[in-house]
Amino acid sequence: MTYVAPSILAADFLHLGDELVAVEGAGADRIHFDVMDGRFVPNISLGIPLVEAVQRGTSLPLEAHLMIEEPERYVEAFVKAGADTLIVHQENSPHLHRTVQLMHGLGIKAGVAINPATPETTLDAIVEDIDLVLVMTVNPGFGGQAFIPRVLRKIKRVRQLLDDRNPRCELEVDGGIDPETAPDVVQAGATVLVAGTAVFGDPGGPAAGVRNLAGAAN
Ligand code: DX5
Ligand code: ZN
Repeated sequence: MTYVAPSILAADFLHLGDELVAVEGAGADRIHFDVMDGRFVPNISLGIPLVEAVQRGTSLPLEAHLMIEEPERYVEAFVKAGADTLIVHQENSPHLHRTVQLMHGLGIKAGVAINPATPETTLDAIVEDIDLVLVMTVNPGFGGQAFIPRVLRKIKRVRQLLDDRNPRCELEVDGGIDPETAPDVVQAGATVLVAGTAVFGDPGGPAAGVRNLAGAAN
């Protein structure tokens, strides 16, 4: 089973409540929430008050993908706002183990993201301690970018690493995932597909977007 995690970055914010109802009704597994600070990535997106609103608009779990400097400073605030999982980047977390402990201490799941040019070997010292690995399939910062096919080899290596050392850890992919790229990432070993444009930009609406992606993936 492959799960679909709609990224609300691509949603119509004027009608966010309706869009959340639509993706939940279509069988989405969780809501993906992209936080950008204009420093770690060259764009500014969504923040803590919106997490609080979104969790009121859905019964699905909410994961926040923190593309920000010093993510550890904001862990508690995101948990208070209602995040069930926080994903921090390996690239800007010198004390990653401490941050993971902080998340687990607050009762949420801990995810670690790696950028396209970050090797999966950086996960070696943390893989047993985390609940989710997010392999970025674009460079983070913007929705609607093209999938980077070279990352497929890395997804396969991460699959092997998880099978060997932490089979319960989820393997999520994010960026340029649509019904065309989904079969490849699933075959490489991904279990959770983040999708913004493919879900909220589907001509049939977000519910059709979720169904089309899940259909292509499973
Ligand atoms: C990129 C974000 C993604 C993005 C995905 O920095 O992490 O979650 O919203 O968007 P699409 O599916 O449009 O590539
Ligand atoms: Zn994301």
